[in-house]
Amino acid sequence: MFEVVRNEKLATNLHRLTVAAPRVARARRPGQFVIVRRQEGAERIPLTIADADPQAGTITLIVQAVGASTRGIVSTPAGEFLRDVVGPLGRPTHLERWGCVACVGGGVGTAVLYPIAKALAEIGNKVYAVIGARSAEYVLLARELSAFAEQVFVATEDGSLGRRGLVTVILADMLAGKLPRPDAVYAVGPVLMMAAVADMTRAPEIPTIVSLNPIMIDGTGMCGGCRVMVGGQRKFACVDGPEFDGHQVDFTGLQSRLSMYQQQERMALRASQTCRLEPPAGRNAEEPSG
Ligand code: FAD
Ligand code: NAD
Ligand code: FES
Repeated sequence: MFEVVRNEKLATNLHRLTVAAPRVARARRPGQFVIVRRQEGAERIPLTIADADPQAGTITLIVQAVGASTRGIVSTPAGEFLRDVVGPLGRPTHLERWGCVACVGGGVGTAVLYPIAKALAEIGNKVYAVIGARSAEYVLLARELSAFAEQVFVATEDGSLGRRGLVTVILADMLAGKLPRPDAVYAVGPVLMMAAVADMTRAPEIPTIVSLNPIMIDGTGMCGGCRVMVGGQRKFACVDGPEFDGHQVDFTGLQSRLSMYQQQERMALRASQTCRLEPPAGRNAEEPSG
């Protein structure tokens, strides 16, 4: 059992959980994740280790409530317990001294990006954080990123903070040389965002690493649930990733596998809606009728 030490609401349906998991806190490296089950028999949910404090024996998870299971996790109050926190899983981030690195985060993907950006800065890269969100309320970790980034650029779709538009408007300026031009790009966020970033950096041949989020079940390479095609080869994101060369990823296949179980996900959400939280997050999340 793993105690939730703190549960802070960051925005609608977005929570930061500090969880006592001393072994994971000591062993984890940037880019790795855990699989969480809230209670016996619950679905297994992969979540990135956004931060860790080995001395306190805690890890930080930033969780967006999009369906029944993530709703359950964010509604666990401080002092209560999560049944399983398994990890650290996945390969750690490939770290290299590139020079100037653009770390591009879309929405909750910024939580996944944060430990990667921090590690890149720690080995001497000049990190430019480029973060996008629907509106100011959903801009994540800007203050934390500014502790080590050369600059933090923000784009919001409604213009309530920073540049108006998608996060890629800022990356376009970087690639055009209007802002510092990156030697490498790390991108984490919605599949369409990562696909757009990879398209933009392909012609100028800027190495681009993306962190993929396919549906995962066991997290050990056994079930095949998380398979993705990368450079024409089948990979399992839980053991071969979750980070891959963005120029090689089949994003269309990933998007289609992510939407395979929408009907079952809606049924699970409906079943869980005896419920106490706000409506589900995510622009594609439908409220069940009736
Ligand atoms: P479901 O009812 O299963 O789905 C609700 C909606 O979410 C549907 O639209 C569905 O298509 C979509 N969805 C389902 N699974 C995923 C998925 N794997 N990725 C994206 N969308 C999905 N989420 C966080 O909030 N914070 C994190 O730090 C984080 N890190 C992740 C790291 C990895 C390696 C992976 C694979 C995923 C990560 N996710 C993270 C996504 C998270 O695991 C999913 O949102 C969660 O599994 C959805 O479960 P659910 O039962 O609540 O929703
Ligand atoms: P969102 O839909 O609000 O988008 C956040 C930002 O991403 C947008 O404001 C925009 O700046 C950018 N973006 C979105 N679509 C784009 C496009 N087509 N082109 C360019 N930029 C685009 O995201 P959210 O609701 O905060 O986050 C949920 C998304 O994050 C889900 O799609 C989920 O799959 C993804 N996610 C990814 C990971 C991962 O490990 N890669 C982990 C968790 C969640
Ligand atoms: Fe089962 Fe990756 S989650 S093989």
